[in-house]
Amino acid sequence: MPIKGGQLKSIWYDAEACEVCVVDQTRLPHEFAIHRLRTLEDACEAITSMRVRGAPLIGVTAVFGVYLALRENPDSLEIAIKRLRETRPTAVNLHWALGRAARELSEQGHADAAGMSLAFALALAEEDAACCEALGGHGGELLRRLWREHCGQDRPLQVLTHCNAGALAAVDWGTALAAVYKAANAGVPLHVWVNETRPRNQGGALTCWELRQAGIDHSLIVDGAAGHVMASGLVDVCITGSDRVSAAGDVCNKIGTYQVALAARDNNLPFYAALPVSTIDFDWPSADEAIPIEERAAEEISLTSGIEAGGRETRVRQYPEETVVRNFAFDVTPARLVSGIITEHGVFDANRNSLAALANN
Ligand code: MRU
Repeated sequence: MPIKGGQLKSIWYDAEACEVCVVDQTRLPHEFAIHRLRTLEDACEAITSMRVRGAPLIGVTAVFGVYLALRENPDSLEIAIKRLRETRPTAVNLHWALGRAARELSEQGHADAAGMSLAFALALAEEDAACCEALGGHGGELLRRLWREHCGQDRPLQVLTHCNAGALAAVDWGTALAAVYKAANAGVPLHVWVNETRPRNQGGALTCWELRQAGIDHSLIVDGAAGHVMASGLVDVCITGSDRVSAAGDVCNKIGTYQVALAARDNNLPFYAALPVSTIDFDWPSADEAIPIEERAAEEISLTSGIEAGGRETRVRQYPEETVVRNFAFDVTPARLVSGIITEHGVFDANRNSLAALANN
């Protein structure tokens, strides 16, 4: 992630302090703060409170959490994995990463459990960054082709995205935004429409912040404006990340994604999801079968926070306590609305036959 003239990852290990460092995403965009994880409970709190969020990053943070547990107690592998699995239910990367940690580390036994688990977490972080860079390459090529076909040299490619699927949501590069970054690096002029993504505003707070760091032209819109912007001819392509893709190509992602895909279809616009293969849940046959959809606290909707004129952070109540709130955090876009799934192995059709080629990766 480009920041302050340098390159930064969203999670890393500080070997001198023996601490895991993350960018505290609850502080952005007003403050860039580093948060340090020293214990298993620190890692669980960071995931649950969404200091770290985004499917790939949750998985990598959980595996660092396993290391933090094992360095306290080398016998705590099972209990740590159980605790970490409970932090957030929807993004399958969490379960995928913990499943891999369980297999790798239980085979190794207890000799130097902490050292092995740290090496595993560092390797997984590198693997995630490499996957995201590779899928960004395929997505970037797709955007470059769309630009040539639809815009010529005349105007920038207009991309619409939802939530934050950038470097902050992974270890580096991100998923949907990796495609944007790669296309921009290849000289494609772009403008990104960023859905605010109520109620936690990952679009307004995180995606806009990232795009500003990267120097990419963008405009923030409220979620309800996405259809209007598409119908006004201001969008060429929609691209989002995903928290879980079914074996049939249905895309679970941040609440509101389904409406973006519906509006894209009604306006004859392509809708792509970009994700590492670790986000495909081959045990989830299709959208006909329910998956756990996280429901978060009502306060995320009924309270809001911001910066006062004097710079002090403040929290205010938007809706009275009696207002009954349901805070669904994710939805499922059926495969029929998905133009393609962008992965580190290329772009695949959103159907069972096409995705089957990825099952053993
Ligand atoms: O609740 P969040 O912020 O963790 O949800 C994140 C998303 O829905 C992202 O779009 C998704 O994880 C893909 S990120 C690479």
